[in-house]
Amino acid sequence: MKVLLVGNGAREHAIAERLAQDAELYSVMSKKNPAIAQLSKEYWICDIENAESVSKAISGREFDLGFASPDATLAAGVSDALAQTGMLVASPTKAASRIEWDKSYMRNLLTRHKIKGSPKHVVVTSEADARRAIKDYGEVAVKPLGLTGGKGVKVSGDHFTEIDDLADYAKGLIEKDGSALIEEKLVGEEFTFQCFCDGSRISTMPPVQDHKRAYEGDAGPNTGGMGSYSSGTHLPFTRESDIEEAKKILQGVIHAMKKDQAPFHGVLYGQFILTAEGVKIIEFNARFGDPEAMNVLPLMNDSLTNTLLSMAEGQLSRPSFSDDCTVVKYLVPDGYPDKPHKDACVDIDAHGMEASGAKVYFASVYEQAGKILTTGSRAFGILGRGKSLDEAEAIAEKGCSFIRGPVWHRRDIGTSALIKKKTDRMLSIRGKK
Ligand code: AMP
Ligand code: GLY
Repeated sequence: MKVLLVGNGAREHAIAERLAQDAELYSVMSKKNPAIAQLSKEYWICDIENAESVSKAISGREFDLGFASPDATLAAGVSDALAQTGMLVASPTKAASRIEWDKSYMRNLLTRHKIKGSPKHVVVTSEADARRAIKDYGEVAVKPLGLTGGKGVKVSGDHFTEIDDLADYAKGLIEKDGSALIEEKLVGEEFTFQCFCDGSRISTMPPVQDHKRAYEGDAGPNTGGMGSYSSGTHLPFTRESDIEEAKKILQGVIHAMKKDQAPFHGVLYGQFILTAEGVKIIEFNARFGDPEAMNVLPLMNDSLTNTLLSMAEGQLSRPSFSDDCTVVKYLVPDGYPDKPHKDACVDIDAHGMEASGAKVYFASVYEQAGKILTTGSRAFGILGRGKSLDEAEAIAEKGCSFIRGPVWHRRDIGTSALIKKKTDRMLSIRGKK
């Protein structure tokens, strides 16, 4: 089977690794990811956020199955362009990926179909309305309606304390985009719950907790994600009923989208937050999470190729997952995220890495004259896997030591100290109810 993958980050490296196990892999990338290139029979470099440029890159070629992976690629209609060439496609159409690129549509969909989990929210188009909503809700999150790469949200208490600053931020968004979304601030522990969808049914993956803040102790600016962990079918702070509630919301969305004539075939990602009032939804993504894909894909007991095929055909197969624990730590350039050190050379001790049991996924790096260099973004995802979180964390940490150069990572992700902090915090939040 000839499978075409569009994307070139660490998440796509994890996808490519699984696809190449039983399919002939071809890829389209915006920059050459050396690891994906090595797994691919052939690859093309073009603007993957432009459907026409992807179509041109693969013109005259035939594939059985296509998968467009990153958010901006989906929003650009690349899945639709792949389908036009006659291949089956396992990623959502531009219309279906609206659940990610238009937060106003997303909140409306939940309201119209009476799906639980939204905080109080309003879309505003003037500074006066923004100010009114901020005063009314007390503590808020102010965000753009479109794609933000996880970085466009400002939250009361975390980023700003003054109403004037929040209103100013909303004003800036309104001037730029015409509108802004104001939501009541949710307090709790966030978790990622992803599922495979065939337009009507879902099959869930193990839940994961990502760490968006740049610095240890969950401090500093938001990033695309500094690392993540999973621990089987539950996280240390979730109860069975929380996961069931989240699953109902995911299933509700898939039914609602089918009814709305925008059936969703692909991976649906729910960014949930567990609050004193139960499970709430922060946002949906129409794709695998990055880094979360690196946690869950290696745990799949069944073929990813077959699962993608079953989603595209509307005949969902239900892959099972190992109960092993995983920890992923992202190595990022020195100075990241504010002033990242670019074009710096990094050395990988591949033998040491292999002997440690850790796995390295290539993110935003490039190759020049046989050397690996950083860009300004996250550089490598290091995965540790074990029977316990402690074991997985120790392997990931050891793995990080085999990459040398001006890069750093959050040492606290997946440690028992940080996990205890999160579990205690959740207990105290639940207790307050
Ligand atoms: P998003 O881009 O919507 O995923 O938001 C990025 C991050 O902002 C989330 O992971 C949360 O940490 C935070 N955030 C977004 N919306 C809210 C909200 N309503 N309440 C509290 N935090 C939020
Ligand atoms: N880990 C956050 C995201 O993929 O959006």
